[in-house]
Amino acid sequence: MIEDASLQSRMAMHNQNALKIGLFAANCSSGRAVTLVPERWSASWPDNLRMARLADESGIDFLLPVARWKPYGTNGSYQHDTLETITWATGLIASTQRITVFGTVHAPLFNPVMAAKQMATADLLGGGRFGLNLVVGWNEGEFEMFGIKQRDHDARYDYAQEWIDAVKDMWSPKDNFDVDGEYIKLKAVRSNPKPAGGARPIIMNAGMSGVGRSFAIRNCDAFFTNTIGMSAEQQAEVVKACKAEARTHGRELDVYTTGDIVCRPNQKEAEDYHHHAIFEMADWGSVDDILAMRKITPDTLSPEDFKKRRELQAKGMGGVPLVGTPDHIANQLAALVQAGLRGIAVSFVNYADELPYFVAEVLPRLERMGVRVPATPLTK
Ligand SMILES: Cc1cc2nc3c(=O)[nH]c(=O)nc-3n(C[C@H](O)[C@H](O)[C@H](O)COP(=O)(O)O)c2cc1C
Repeated sequence: MIEDASLQSRMAMHNQNALKIGLFAANCSSGRAVTLVPERWSASWPDNLRMARLADESGIDFLLPVARWKPYGTNGSYQHDTLETITWATGLIASTQRITVFGTVHAPLFNPVMAAKQMATADLLGGGRFGLNLVVGWNEGEFEMFGIKQRDHDARYDYAQEWIDAVKDMWSPKDNFDVDGEYIKLKAVRSNPKPAGGARPIIMNAGMSGVGRSFAIRNCDAFFTNTIGMSAEQQAEVVKACKAEARTHGRELDVYTTGDIVCRPNQKEAEDYHHHAIFEMADWGSVDDILAMRKITPDTLSPEDFKKRRELQAKGMGGVPLVGTPDHIANQLAALVQAGLRGIAVSFVNYADELPYFVAEVLPRLERMGVRVPATPLTK
């Protein structure tokens, strides 16, 4: 049971771990692995529940879903099933004891009054364990499905600014107020009850651009970004720049990245399985659909360049590859702390099946390295 729902305690995810570890994208079938291996993630509710309870028991810090509404294209089956994230988080919070569970929310698709109340409800249910991962979105097809026109890039963040201001006001003691923005106009807003413990949920923003980063710095407790392909030094630079910009606004900001794990007792076994799942059994139909959405097709690139982009995309949706033995992966994870990162949201081909080995072998190594503390037993 969580006893302290202050913002500080929420940002620390109610524990002492220097490196926060979360599970990313388990609300979607296939998670972040664009593969057709039969053991790929189902995202069924029983599997989500099994994963969440295991994670909670093992001291994993958070669960972070992906905001998706339909599969990519029509040729493959990647992320065919996608559970809505605030309801997913609410169900999982109700089924666990201490883990922080995020909703990943498309600001342009959710009425802010509805979203603020849904999130406050989820938060109260867990005594302060709900987190908001705000995204502005990028996928035209999803917006068209809602009948909503996607704004120009920077205007997406202007809209998000009004949205998050309104939501924060609804979570504050303010009552009976109007919102008169350029985009959002609300009359006599009342939103009770407030989130747990007189605080608000921890807020992160997922993005890559400078505008996205500035938005996170101004409004959020954490910036969730992608550091694939970066050296330790480059990662450290990204973190340093984010924190420096935050300080100019008198704010503290945590930076998180994403990773894709294949952990096996020996290096070759891990690499072989990664090759098998990610290349031999790649969901090429989906890979091509994802590329086509970014206007990358055999018509827009030379055959060699297209082949390269295809292989890069097959590797997944942008997480740092963590493929190898428990020692190898523990070293890679501990290096993130050195780079100044606060945490990582990781994916597995099958979260619930692969988590026990990761917990048994990698977490104790991280504890010995001093970047995590052992999980205390849950109350029955
Ligand atoms: C780590 C990470 C996670 C993201 N998760 C989602 C998501 O779940 N759903 C979504 O529609 N967009 C997601 N995005 C995309 C962002 O919402 C945003 O649309 C995209 O990064 C483009 O904005 P930017 O130019 O500011 O980076 C994610 C981006 C990053 C970097």
